[in-house]
Amino acid sequence: MDGVTVIDHPLVQHKLTIMRKKETSTAGFRRLLKEISTLLCYEVTRDLELTMERIETPLEEMDSPVLEGKKLVFASILRAGNGLLEGMLELVPSARVSHIGVYRDHETLQPVEYYFKAPDGLNERLVIVVDPMLATGNSSIAAIDKLKERGARNIRFLCLLAAPEGIRNFQSAHPDVAIFTAAIDRHLNEKGYIVPGLGDAGDRMYGTK
Ligand code: URA
Repeated sequence: MDGVTVIDHPLVQHKLTIMRKKETSTAGFRRLLKEISTLLCYEVTRDLELTMERIETPLEEMDSPVLEGKKLVFASILRAGNGLLEGMLELVPSARVSHIGVYRDHETLQPVEYYFKAPDGLNERLVIVVDPMLATGNSSIAAIDKLKERGARNIRFLCLLAAPEGIRNFQSAHPDVAIFTAAIDRHLNEKGYIVPGLGDAGDRMYGTK
């Protein structure tokens, strides 16, 4: 699928299988989510630009690569997106974090924002929007609408599972935003759940129902 990278690393696939199992506990699910998010973060940042910096090792001077540009932003779509943040921040501790609470009004179909916090200079930063499940795509579309209104131009979307219907909806709204996912499942059911999926990601990570 154009514009979609499926992260097929064996460790990612193995951990995802355990997360899908209904008998996996809340504690186990959360631990796996943290581990898998570190691996996903590694893949979504694999082509970041580097610049050379003059440094001194204990032996001599050399030009050595460092990340170019302003600090990354990890933008979490509340609440399930927060489950991906911890592992990602372990890998990129200097990243800035944005939290976005948004939903699409069923009648007007307009995005309703109930929370938005982001660092300055969104127009100069790579923003990686995170939400474990790309289901209908409506909340991620709305969150990215809000980020773009505040100037973000360079955006990627990272999730754990995606539904084909959600990918199509997302790409028609934001064709410029690359999607990274660990798997594309079969379809959405009538309640908007990804099938076979893993259930409600928020409930599974926080032990709510
Ligand atoms: N959100 C979830 O947490 N799970 C789904 O299957 C779909 C949306």
